[in-house]
Amino acid sequence: MICIGLEGTAEKTGVGVVTSDGEVLFNKTIIYTPPKQGIHPREAADHHAETFPKLIKEAFEVVDKDEIDLIAFSQGPGLGPCLRVTATAARTLSLALKKPIIGVNHCVAHIEIGKLTTDAEDPLTLYVSGGNTQVIAYVSNKYRVFGETLDIAIGNCLDQFARFCNLPHPGGPYVEKLAEKGEKLIDLPYTVKGMDISFSGLLTSAMRSYESGERLEDVCFSLQEIAFSMLTEITERALAHTNKPEVMLVGGVAANNRLREMLKIMSEEQNVDFYVPEKQFCGDNGAMIAWLGILQYMNGKRMTLEETRIIPNYRTDMVEVNWIKEIPK
Ligand code: ATP
Ligand code: FE2
Repeated sequence: MICIGLEGTAEKTGVGVVTSDGEVLFNKTIIYTPPKQGIHPREAADHHAETFPKLIKEAFEVVDKDEIDLIAFSQGPGLGPCLRVTATAARTLSLALKKPIIGVNHCVAHIEIGKLTTDAEDPLTLYVSGGNTQVIAYVSNKYRVFGETLDIAIGNCLDQFARFCNLPHPGGPYVEKLAEKGEKLIDLPYTVKGMDISFSGLLTSAMRSYESGERLEDVCFSLQEIAFSMLTEITERALAHTNKPEVMLVGGVAANNRLREMLKIMSEEQNVDFYVPEKQFCGDNGAMIAWLGILQYMNGKRMTLEETRIIPNYRTDMVEVNWIKEIPK
């Protein structure tokens, strides 16, 4: 079976085509870059409306449209206007091709593409992106959230800091580059509460440090060191709690080399395997939506058009996970 997946929860438009054997035949993402700084959900949605037809056309140049068996799309969580355009594009495709449609959870899709493209089988997952920061593990038919941010996501924290310093959007990669030239660890607040974390105090302090004349490279370095240590600490605590044999890092911020390094060291110390997908599967992409669509469809999930309405606050632990047959020991 072949599935086309549409991703459009926020600023990225993604289209992917995946087979039921897990082969990725097409995967392309286009990011919306606003003319001025800051993203307006309506403008991002307009970008999706322009970009989906182009990307779908490109996908059909690689895979004949008559070979498509299933349409999957990101049903949530995400920005209302963006989700609505994505769902509309998916419904249109489903009606035009006369093929079934399935709406999937974006966060669960990040986890499943990680498992497909690495050797991870039953990982404790650290999911870090612009909109989410969660420590997740599979327990009794659900991906359960063991820890999460109590305010903003790590990617949002890095992007807001970058915007404050007039760096381009998305700021995460720019902060990473500057941090490589940092030398001094500035004292910034470290906020961990059990397996939860908070980034807003750290963000404000980083902004104040920069305003007070600290070198940008040093502030970026310190912001990363503190934020990523917090993430590593809650992952380590959840690992002890869940006893999972593997750690997996997914989401847009998983592209960061320093975060990868810290989690790898922690995993080695804890004697568990560490996995991170290649970069095209870290950030938002259509292939992850297509793959979760296949997993759910092949395990009996069906949706009427009425059931494809968007779910802007669709939580990871709302999804009934029935495609994991047996967890290897
Ligand atoms: P979600 O809906 O899952 O929250 P998203 O819309 O934030 O996803 P992603 O592609 O998963 O999209 O993540 C984007 C985030 O990843 C941005 O905040 C961006 O700054 C961050 N990011 C990308 N590359 C890096 C990097 N090298 N270092 C740090 N952050 C990065
Ligand atoms: Fe994402």
